[in-house]
Amino acid sequence: MNANEFLKELESRRSVRSYKSDPVPKELIERIVRAGTYAPTGMGRQSPVIVAVTDKAVRDSLSRLNASIMGSAGDPFYGAPAVLLVLADKTVPTCVYDGSLVMGELMHAAHALGLGSCWIHRAREEFETPEGKALLERLGLDPERYVGIGHCILGYANGPEPAPKPRKEGWVHWVE
Ligand SMILES: Cc1cc2nc3c(=O)[nH]c(=O)nc-3n(C[C@H](O)[C@H](O)[C@H](O)COP(=O)(O)O)c2cc1C
Repeated sequence: MNANEFLKELESRRSVRSYKSDPVPKELIERIVRAGTYAPTGMGRQSPVIVAVTDKAVRDSLSRLNASIMGSAGDPFYGAPAVLLVLADKTVPTCVYDGSLVMGELMHAAHALGLGSCWIHRAREEFETPEGKALLERLGLDPERYVGIGHCILGYANGPEPAPKPRKEGWVHWVE
């Protein structure tokens, strides 16, 4: 891929909010999470962790927990079959920046592989609840050490990706 194609890929990623139920092959998820692990991190400390969830029961319980934080009963994951949960080590001062950049890498990697994705928020609140903490403990992650950053939902888009909104005025300021 040349530079123009790469930049086009970056521009053409969109948040997908309708998914087919088809599972995402594990091999593709492995490639996406690998891309995430190469995100830059403050002082190279690699503060984030990625939890790849394809188990339907766990995926559904995360969805319910996330919805309950919003006071909703819907599926905030829009039917996506896989969820890449990003958390980061609270003891690292750049943890939120590190984790956010991982989220970006995951979404772009998904797009490059022909998958839809979307950042779903409220991970911080989710892992402050007893249910969220219990899940982290089950995974061997210290719930007092990790802050939830976001969920990168993944799946095959059910329909075309939406068009981007026009870019706002004043995005870029030049000092020349
Ligand atoms: C920090 C952050 C939180 C977001 N949370 C949600 C969310 O909870 N639900 C959702 O549908 N989209 C969420 N999004 C996706 C944005 O709404 C989306 O990126 C934005 O509308 C621009 O659309 P695009 O990604 O297609 O360019 C979030 C994005 C970011 C960066």
